Amino acid sequence: MDLKLKIWRQKNANDKGKMVDYPISNVSPDMSFLEMLDVLNNELIEKGEAPVSFDHDCREGICGSCSLYINGEAHGPDRLITTCQLHMRTFKDGETITIEPWRAKAFPVIKDLVVDRTAFDRIQHAGGFISVNTSGNTIDANAIPINKADADNAFMAATCIGCGACVASCKNSSAMLFVGAKVSQFALLPQGQVEATDRVLNMVKQMDEEGFGNCTNTGACEVECPKGISLENIARMNREYLSASLKG
Ligand code: SF4
Ligand code: FES
Repeated sequence: MDLKLKIWRQKNANDKGKMVDYPISNVSPDMSFLEMLDVLNNELIEKGEAPVSFDHDCREGICGSCSLYINGEAHGPDRLITTCQLHMRTFKDGETITIEPWRAKAFPVIKDLVVDRTAFDRIQHAGGFISVNTSGNTIDANAIPINKADADNAFMAATCIGCGACVASCKNSSAMLFVGAKVSQFALLPQGQVEATDRVLNMVKQMDEEGFGNCTNTGACEVECPKGISLENIARMNREYLSASLKG
């Protein structure tokens, strides 16, 4: 396949940045999208040019670091996959592919296609955990009976990989799907009840302080989420927030 890539290049956080055209030839349809970028980078290095910076780690849909906006969609045109799971056979020979970083005030561009997503880490630190007594008297978690539907929904919420596609695809740059998933995975389990009030209040407060926008129920986040996290998690978080606020 021969392709024309239009890639966002930005030297650093202060650089204005611009789209740059890169033709690329002999791309195998069986390559992953990131492997195609590896080939481009090898060519750029051989020509003495700076390679394109992009985030990646596991390359198997687990870590959530491969955050690319491809042809106007977070993680590209396929559904329920991350950029590293996207294959070049999805595109047509001769096609022009536009590749941009996530765009959101709370995710500033560091370089080229790499954005700073530490805002998500700070939201997690604000309450995305449970405190467990590990003194030796801890009750085995499996000894506590949990309704099957609640266990399944908690597990589904826990599959959120923190990639940020929900924010990038939202016209308001809202992080409600991410925070909803992180609140829900504990709200549905007995182990999460002890810190439930503080958790939702603190995580939502941190989310607002980071500069993420409000949810206006557009639903783009759910469509673009590689893990199929449901909007029901936002509704659950709102219920948790209302209940926590009334408790004071
Ligand atoms: S909710 Fe989905 S899109 Fe948002 S961070 Fe989690 S996995 Fe990524
Ligand atoms: S590189 Fe880890 S999810 Fe894509």
